[in-house]
Amino acid sequence: MNTFQRLLAALFLLGGSLALIGTALQDEAKRVELPPPHVPAPVHDGRPEMLEGWESMECADCHREIASEWAGTLHAMAWVDPTYQDAIANKRRPQSCYGCHIPQPLNLSAFGGKPRPRNPETTPSDETRHHGVSCLSCHLGPDDTMLGPYESDPENEISPAHKSKKGEAFGGKLGDALCINCHRTNVGPVIGIAKDFEVTRQADKGLSCVGCHMSEVERSAAVETLEDGTTKASPVRLGRSHALQTPRDPAFLAEAFGLDAQTTATGAELLITNQAAHRVPGLKSRSMTFVVKSLDGAGEVLGEATLVIDSRAYLPVDGLLPIAVASKTAPAKLEVVATHDWTGVKAPVEFINKVIELK
Ligand code: HEC
Ligand code: HEC
Ligand code: HEC
Ligand code: HEC
Ligand code: HEC
Repeated sequence: MNTFQRLLAALFLLGGSLALIGTALQDEAKRVELPPPHVPAPVHDGRPEMLEGWESMECADCHREIASEWAGTLHAMAWVDPTYQDAIANKRRPQSCYGCHIPQPLNLSAFGGKPRPRNPETTPSDETRHHGVSCLSCHLGPDDTMLGPYESDPENEISPAHKSKKGEAFGGKLGDALCINCHRTNVGPVIGIAKDFEVTRQADKGLSCVGCHMSEVERSAAVETLEDGTTKASPVRLGRSHALQTPRDPAFLAEAFGLDAQTTATGAELLITNQAAHRVPGLKSRSMTFVVKSLDGAGEVLGEATLVIDSRAYLPVDGLLPIAVASKTAPAKLEVVATHDWTGVKAPVEFINKVIELK
């Protein structure tokens, strides 16, 4: 990205008057389409595929499907993640890194505060660290009640395993607060991208973290095996997959970028807009390389240009990054190939490969 593009990007982020151009394009951009949720998560980066021992978790007795989805995410792996363990190994005060990676139940403290780490003395040992961002981190409320998206309905209770109640952090006005609490802070390699979501008022557009990162699924949330070996399932309802949609999944990452092409006096340009509700990327260690070629009608290459998007040269909300490709004769189409590089992968992973006809 050249200095001018960087300046443009900065101005767009500030939400100055130039943002109008970005907004107009954004309105035309299609909504993020969620690919099917992955179980196990699409990991090819040295992190475990599934959290070891998840099957023996108490919650998995009845919420097996949800537990298996969660076990393949970096929420489950937030403590065992080798990248995280490497990062805290040489810290003088690693405790400062515990709050979001092994958090106490967030519903028990007021949202907006700093997440606090679990205390090994008051939590059963396997849950204390191994479970990272655990079921209880998000769901445990006061009085041992599980807070979730459903109104409690005694008639539907198949087992008094626990009390259930609709929590204000699930759906409704506070629906993003749970996620924002941990994802708004710049710390270590992390960019607090949830801050963008707040500052640019994405919720007013009807967008939510859960809406883009946890796909809707219709199913029984709980299936319990009774003593006689038969099973009893809770009623089928609309719920959410806990297999997080992640940028490590090429199909989901592609959804972050709106692509448009136009001819110019010197050739053609690709226009990249942001379809995520926060900047891209969210980690210092990620980069996405776009290689754009202009082609004539017969497919001969006329020109080529490259743009790297990373934490310094990032794609802001409402941003517009042009990639100009010069060519001597008028091109007929642009070929776009984009690859994603991050900590742990052997080689960059392709996530876009398409040809756009020029009008
Ligand atoms: C305020 C909450 C919070 C605190 C405190 C925190 N982290 Fe994290 N950490 C996160 C979040 C959120 C992510 C995931 C970000 C993403 O994937 O975009 C993460 C991910 C990571 C990763 C994985 C990066 C990768 O390449 O996948 C490392 C390493 C890490 N944190 C190190 C640290 C270190 C070191 C500290 C202490 C200095 C720390 N964290 C403290 C929230 C936190
Ligand atoms: C013995 C079976 C059983 C066990 C064990 C169990 N649950 Fe549940 N859970 C249920 C049933 C049944 C429901 C009601 C589902 C419905 O009505 O759709 C439920 C509902 C929930 C809800 C939704 C509450 C709401 O009102 O929206 C959450 C959250 C939840 N459980 C979390 C957990 C967690 C976390 C654990 C582990 C600590 C756990 N459950 C262990 C059976 C169980
Ligand atoms: C208690 C803190 C906490 C909460 C609450 C939380 N996260 Fe995270 N999240 C993390 C940490 C820590 C990581 C990264 C762990 C690592 O890389 O080691 C992470 C990782 C992620 C990732 C990256 C996954 C990947 O595979 O690269 C996504 C996406 C994400 N979280 C979305 C959400 C959404 C959506 C919510 C709300 C439903 C949420 N988070 C709530 C702490 C949290
Ligand atoms: C990062 C926070 C987070 C973690 C960790 C988490 N959940 Fe959830 N869970 C949610 C959110 C958000 C929803 C509700 C989504 C909605 O409908 O708005 C939900 C919904 C549910 C529901 C209701 C049914 C459904 O499909 O929506 C159950 C049951 C549940 N979770 C159980 C669990 C269990 C068991 C675990 C651990 C294996 C777990 N959750 C881990 C955030 C979390
Ligand atoms: C309109 C859909 C959309 C909404 C709303 C949305 N995201 Fe994302 N998110 C994406 C896409 C697409 C990506 C992949 C591109 C990227 O990595 O930035 C992504 C990536 C991420 C990542 C990984 C970033 C990285 O580089 O490691 C995290 C963490 C995340 N989102 C958290 C959140 C949280 C928290 C919220 C709510 C405050 C949220 N997202 C709202 C679409 C969305």
